[in-house]
Amino acid sequence: MVSCSPKSFFYLVISIWLFSGLALAKRAGITRHFKFDIKMKNVTRLCQTKNIVTVNGQFPGPTISVREGDRVIVKVVNHVQYNVSIHWHGVRQLRSGWADGPAYITQCPIQTGQSYVYNFTITGQRGTLFWHAHISWLRVTLYGPIVILPKRGVPYPFPQPFKEVPIIFGEWWKADTETIINQALQTGGAPNISDAYTFNGLPGPLYNCSSKDTFKLKVKPGKTYLLRLINAALNDELFFSIANHNLAVVEADAVYVKPFKTNIVLITPGQTTNVLLKTKHRHPNATFLMAARPYATGPAAFDNSTTAGILEYHPPSNSTKKINKLTLFKPKLPVFNDTKLATSFSKKIRSLNSARFPAKVPQKVDKHFCFTVGLGLSPCPKNQTCQGPNNTMFAASVNNVSFVMPKTALLQSHFFNQSRGLYTTDFPANPPFKFNYTGNPPNNIMVTSGTKVVVLPFNSSVELVMQDTSIIGAESHPLHLHGFNFFVVGLGFGNYNSKTDPAKFNLVDPAERNTVGVPSGGWVAVRFLADNPGVWFMHCHLEVHTSWGLKMAWIVMDGKRSHQKLPPPPSDLPKC
Ligand code: C2O
Ligand code: CU
Repeated sequence: MVSCSPKSFFYLVISIWLFSGLALAKRAGITRHFKFDIKMKNVTRLCQTKNIVTVNGQFPGPTISVREGDRVIVKVVNHVQYNVSIHWHGVRQLRSGWADGPAYITQCPIQTGQSYVYNFTITGQRGTLFWHAHISWLRVTLYGPIVILPKRGVPYPFPQPFKEVPIIFGEWWKADTETIINQALQTGGAPNISDAYTFNGLPGPLYNCSSKDTFKLKVKPGKTYLLRLINAALNDELFFSIANHNLAVVEADAVYVKPFKTNIVLITPGQTTNVLLKTKHRHPNATFLMAARPYATGPAAFDNSTTAGILEYHPPSNSTKKINKLTLFKPKLPVFNDTKLATSFSKKIRSLNSARFPAKVPQKVDKHFCFTVGLGLSPCPKNQTCQGPNNTMFAASVNNVSFVMPKTALLQSHFFNQSRGLYTTDFPANPPFKFNYTGNPPNNIMVTSGTKVVVLPFNSSVELVMQDTSIIGAESHPLHLHGFNFFVVGLGFGNYNSKTDPAKFNLVDPAERNTVGVPSGGWVAVRFLADNPGVWFMHCHLEVHTSWGLKMAWIVMDGKRSHQKLPPPPSDLPKC
């Protein structure tokens, strides 16, 4: 390694700085260290044992618990046969793009026997996020919560809960998911659907051979609980409800929202939602199911099963009735394709937009983009038969470009000015050809492919309309942007109309999030300020669509000042 830094001088300066900073350091946050050993572990669910990839042998993985302003250092050591990378989903990564994690976008994957230290600071965010593997389908078992508490002494903008409970939803296959997705990508067919959803790693009592694998939440009467809901499932949006209890939504994607009451929560893969649960004033002499099942709009088969946990009240001290004698109430969940309910739920999410937590919605726009998102087909390679429609392969695209993963990380190529042969900067700003996006699809539904990016000047303010297409079938796509939160300024059905729709935009208190559902057969408009230099992945958080190419990347250039530039990569950045 070439190193020209005068280390001792550096440490001297740092220690003087630390010393003089001590008085001010109270609110500045601390450094928290974590070690993630990626290793295999035998786990039994639904009466079948399988070997899964885990962090430290835990499933779900450990919770990263920090405060706003803290520095987080995670040493990830890969002891498994797969290449691995970890993404801190929703963390803004201000000038720390090297720690973002998507394989081949911001880093090469960590190879077997290698390690990488992720180093980033949580700035201006508080609430719930999550971490997950960001390569192939390994996030099926490699995931865990990120809990960001407010700075010490800073209260929540809602009643202080008695207790806080992360609830992380996942998806479970009895078979090996790496085999499933690799085969599907070979043959061009759709990968097999899952066998179950999980509730904190447990499928719950509604599956065969699973009743002992049920998450139980024991509560006291008359208290407020903060449930930190996370959808870490691969391919399915979920409706969630608790029998006979209302919930108040208070935060989404680590941003406070205007509180509202609901008995159903919709949560897409990639989204997180904090809800307050107020327990009944007296012991209800009953137990209650907390259940989640899919919201599904697409043309393909999906896992229509229900995962559940049980809400149980601590028995009053004088009670004699056994818990298992109590009636179990079940929530009424919407039908799987209830788009009306899904839309009305999404629309209720509004930024808190208080004096303390203002919504900084870009009011002017420098760059307009319109991206179609949806499915398509690609041709079957010669001398092969394919399992997509009419001997084709399933594909998915943004503006008809199905993204091809580069051989080395884009951020590296960009930083060292070595883009040649790796990516091009001609990602289309608008659909390459116009058609009735949500009507009858055109005759030719073949996608093109390439590693194309959009380049944005530092601090440009961007408006992006994402338009679903009905090619193969309209479908809701939870689009996720790395490195930023965007404001969801508008949403509608049919084709976006650039003349009439902007007049209806909410530029006051729109939802601020990192993942938004593009409505099935509709569009969504978002705005964000490109104030974070780096390479930022954007993709559908339904993993099957990402695998098929529904992904792209933005390059945000450095600004002029030193604090507007991306620092060089850490010396342990993995090599491809
Ligand atoms: Cu949660 Cu690019 O991912
Ligand atoms: Cu999708």
